[in-house]
Amino acid sequence: MDHTQWNEAWTRYREFNYVKLTDIYNRTGIDELSRKAKILDLGCGSGEFIKILKERGFTSVEGWEPQQDLVKQSGFDCIRQGNCLSIPEPPPQYDAVVILGVLHHLSSFDEVTEALKNVKRLLKPGGRFYSVEPRNTLARTVMTRLMFAIPMALLPARVKIDRFLVAEEEVELNRWLAYEFKMTKRAESVGLVSVRKSADWKSSYQIFENRVH
Ligand SMILES: C[S@@+](CC[C@H](N)C(=O)[O-])C[C@H]1O[C@@H](n2cnc3c(N)ncnc32)[C@H](O)[C@@H]1O
Repeated sequence: MDHTQWNEAWTRYREFNYVKLTDIYNRTGIDELSRKAKILDLGCGSGEFIKILKERGFTSVEGWEPQQDLVKQSGFDCIRQGNCLSIPEPPPQYDAVVILGVLHHLSSFDEVTEALKNVKRLLKPGGRFYSVEPRNTLARTVMTRLMFAIPMALLPARVKIDRFLVAEEEVELNRWLAYEFKMTKRAESVGLVSVRKSADWKSSYQIFENRVH
């Protein structure tokens, strides 16, 4: 992809990402939370989902993101450098933790387990964990094959960038798709109870509640 094509595709992708994150907001039911709920977006990138939460009236939103350049780019004071694998002691307490498209970037299922344990420690009793990650389906496999079989020039801008991203994170994505089905059980084993789950051909949307002891 040349530079102009890349810029065009990226601009479209950012617009598309806003639509995608709005859809995630609606599907996960975060809208049901009190507007005063203390919410952490863990692995928030440059804060696109935080922008949506603020637009919806949430007043106590924070983001942690390991990449300093994305923290700066966000322009939000409520975003700071942070990592789901190493959290401050004592852990701050949230009514809700949101992790969108982050767990599949971790390098092993042990790291996913570590991240889930950290989420549990960051939640108040009864607090909620909203998770959205890629899902392993036949439709995804077919669509991915098609996307790579069709010449780049014929693909719509949005699909071009999708193809680029899938190629970029091929190893991570395939590793995640091989074990994503274990995620719910693992979350439950660390004390996060699955309370709602939905899915489309590409993604799994889940809500867990911090079990009260
Ligand atoms: C696909 S982006 C998703 C960004 C954002 N959540 C969204 O949905 O727009 C993945 C993000 O995960 C972040 N990330 C990767 N490893 C992480 C870790 N160990 N802890 C927290 N975030 C991490 C990356 O820096 C990147 O911003």
